Amino acid sequence: MNLAEAKKRLAACGQEHVLEYWKGLSKAERSALLAQVAAIDPKSVKACAAALGGGGAAAVDTSRGLAPKVAELKGAALARAVAAGERELKAGRVAALLVAGGQGSRLGYDGPKGCYSIGPVTGAPLFHFHARKILARSRRYGKPIPFYVMTSEANNAATVECFRANGYFGLDPKDVFFFTQGMWPGMTKDGKIILDAPGHIFMSPDGHGGLLAALKRSGALDDMKRRGIRSVFFFQVDNPLVEIADPAFVGYHVLERSEYSLKLCAKRDPFEKVGMPMLVGGRYRMVEYTEMTKEQCLRKKGGKLYYLYGSPAIHVFDRAFLAREAAKAMPLHLAFKKIPYVAGGKVVKPAEPNGYKFEKFIFDILPNARRAAFLAFAQKDEFSPVKNAEGNDSPATCRADMRAKWARMLAAAGVKVPESMPLEIDPAYALDADDLVRRGLVLG
Ligand code: UTP
Repeated sequence: MNLAEAKKRLAACGQEHVLEYWKGLSKAERSALLAQVAAIDPKSVKACAAALGGGGAAAVDTSRGLAPKVAELKGAALARAVAAGERELKAGRVAALLVAGGQGSRLGYDGPKGCYSIGPVTGAPLFHFHARKILARSRRYGKPIPFYVMTSEANNAATVECFRANGYFGLDPKDVFFFTQGMWPGMTKDGKIILDAPGHIFMSPDGHGGLLAALKRSGALDDMKRRGIRSVFFFQVDNPLVEIADPAFVGYHVLERSEYSLKLCAKRDPFEKVGMPMLVGGRYRMVEYTEMTKEQCLRKKGGKLYYLYGSPAIHVFDRAFLAREAAKAMPLHLAFKKIPYVAGGKVVKPAEPNGYKFEKFIFDILPNARRAAFLAFAQKDEFSPVKNAEGNDSPATCRADMRAKWARMLAAAGVKVPESMPLEIDPAYALDADDLVRRGLVLG
């Protein structure tokens, strides 16, 4: 792109000021800025500006929202779901989809969160636990489970390098597909793109909802189709307890002919900061904890919280549903943040929020699903995210939960371990107690 083309593109979305410092830029800065402008889609910029003017994701009136019917599978129903899921896995119709493009700002780790060392004994990274589960599951059912990993521009190279340096954790590289999410420019209240240096536009990742456009753009959706994938298991990078491609969940999704299925767990307290699915105006939608009143959060039915369940972002999607949704625009959510900006040619770091970042959320496609399904699970078995450096949902709580899960697995296989004993089990060695028994595990 040359200067004239850049001017034209910026004029098309009312952002000519982006070139304000052009004259003072070096050759390298000029070409970097032109590359940024070339990557900007005027339509998206206009959508961001429109979102600031009230065209973003609409607030939901949850006052009449109904709690969804959540299945708790047991006995014959559980066996039916597991059998259906196993059929999918044996037919090679299941893919794993990981969103790992986040910035991990709360954890404060300088690198992709997936590379964060979490193994209580080995120090293995989060990616290890995900990839080794996929490996174990695909060995068990005799078909590859292709692994689609969404990164961001900021962490793609380091993510790919982490996989390469670890031999793809045993997976066949041809079954691992990295793709990069989009970035949006930050904007002032009045819809002007923010420069965070005289020759640089401030950009931030477009949220986990950026997944749909990225799946399409990268060819990942086509790749899934070519491989005959029907069910896509979605999960987040920070939860090493997640049971990836769990047959019961995949099977329940298929039996329910669902397009979007969600695993839900009972909230730890009524005000836990998790989203909840609700039936509002005849459609299921994810309601943020901020969109509920205190009374609603506390409402009870039969001694239990009425809105008992929260979503830890563990989903199964129908591939064709993802393809249908990828062709549509998604609502934008605004976050008012401190964004460095340029004033009089100098970079200023504001003390207070001054500009907007824009994000898309994957669960915004829930209302568009022709059928949705909800499955309960026990939090202690499958959800312990690494969000914060300390306190709740930190590496320390996560490692303790990982250890406790392995100790339960060993106990189920008839092996008791002293509480003080450090524990770690490679998922590719044993996914569950049955694997331990099959391997004739003997300790010490
Ligand atoms: P979080 O909302 O926890 O964000 O992401 P984060 O970036 O990991 O952490 P903070 O908020 O900065 O501390 C939930 C999941 O969505 C992914 C993350 O990688 C994580 O798996 N995500 C989030 C993306 O892939 N892209 C995004 O733009 C945002």
